[in-house]
Amino acid sequence: MKRWLIALCLLLPVMAAAGSLTEAERAALLRHGPWPPAPHIDPSNRASGNPAAIALGQMLFHDARLSGSGTMACAGCHAAEKGWADERPTAIGLLPVDRNSIGLVDVRLWRWFGWDGAMDTLWGQSLRPILDPREMGGSLAGTAALIRDDPALACRYRAAFGHEPSAETEGVAVDAAKAIAAFLETLTSPRAAFDDFRDGLAANAPGAVDAIPADALMGAKLFVGRGQCAVCHLGPNFTNREFHDTGVPFFVASGRVDPGRHGGIQSLRASRFGLSGPFNDDPVAAPAALTAAVLPLHRNWGEFRVPSLRNLNLTAPYLHDGSLATLRDVIRHYSELDEDRLHADGEALLRPLRLSSAEIDALEAFLRLLAAPPMVARVPSLTTCP
Ligand code: HEC
Ligand code: HEC
Repeated sequence: MKRWLIALCLLLPVMAAAGSLTEAERAALLRHGPWPPAPHIDPSNRASGNPAAIALGQMLFHDARLSGSGTMACAGCHAAEKGWADERPTAIGLLPVDRNSIGLVDVRLWRWFGWDGAMDTLWGQSLRPILDPREMGGSLAGTAALIRDDPALACRYRAAFGHEPSAETEGVAVDAAKAIAAFLETLTSPRAAFDDFRDGLAANAPGAVDAIPADALMGAKLFVGRGQCAVCHLGPNFTNREFHDTGVPFFVASGRVDPGRHGGIQSLRASRFGLSGPFNDDPVAAPAALTAAVLPLHRNWGEFRVPSLRNLNLTAPYLHDGSLATLRDVIRHYSELDEDRLHADGEALLRPLRLSSAEIDALEAFLRLLAAPPMVARVPSLTTCP
């Protein structure tokens, strides 16, 4: 009896450590919510939040006539059931593209769009693939003509913008992109198991810590602790929305390099469809001044945007070049990180974590708490118009 008691006393602190969180861990986990974030209207887009524009945008998103060949719709690379991405390592449009398609759920939460942040407006980013010869190979004139000449689209355009599509080609094409952006703003991740866990912690609910499996709890501790994941994968959408070098090789086939954020800043500065351009509907336009001040630095080479970690069960393969097939592969990348690949002039955030196989399982179990059920697109009919 006595020996049994002593054994229990020795075991209790161990059990408590496995089944509990320190105050710092709890506070760090609380910062990843609440979910979903409040809806917001994009002041740079006068179609944002407008139901008629959302309907027009949804039609256009599924319409292959926007492409030069008439065969490629946005939905071809951004399929709802694949988390609004596709399953290819790198996308294939009219020609091969160097990068992995990005899932479009929660896209309204970004400040910079694309893996390199080459655009600072969602509507500019919605126009870009139409014009890119590798993706859809369309044109401003073709987009404007489609809206003017198709009665169902012209009618939705009138309902959305309150006037006929004008003869001014660039303006009508930008309006089409603003309608697509208004539609994309409506895509939000459903609540995940993590969100219930996090809200339980916030409410100090009894048993909140034990509401997730023990391996996922160990993963949560690693995520906000020794793994340092939350330094970059921060906040309710698990991203600080900025750009980092994580030692992923940035050579693309044929010996070219993907310049990442460095090229992104240059494209942004050259574009007419960003916050600093003539189509920004925001009369205050303060963010435009901020964006205009961003200059490409040497350290931006090979930096890519920190992705969200929600819905990863739907969006494999991973990374900007789709080079890692599974979540385990990504975690192993951080575990075995090649420090020589990290920029000497970049920030020194990452070190190889040398995780045990139980720790790799734990981080994977934690990321699975952010999984979503398959998503479904509702493709609107082209024939109806109010
Ligand atoms: C050929 C495949 C392909 C097609 C077609 C395509 N996309 Fe994409 N999309 C991509 C890829 C690849 C990226 C990542 C681009 C990058 O980082 O340079 C992307 C990125 C995006 C992003 C940025 C998301 C983010 O989180 O920053 C948006 C928005 C987007 N696409 C919307 C659209 C819309 C709207 C259309 C149709 C007009 C479209 N895409 C057509 C492949 C495609
Ligand atoms: C220094 C910032 C930083 C830290 C720390 C960090 N990440 Fe990342 N993470 C990134 C960036 C940047 C990418 C995209 C890299 C690329 O595509 O080249 C990324 C990509 C990922 C992806 C792939 C997601 C996708 O959609 O392709 C996963 C999963 C991931 N990180 C998990 C983690 C985990 C787990 C940790 C902790 C062990 C961690 N990250 C630590 C910046 C970071």
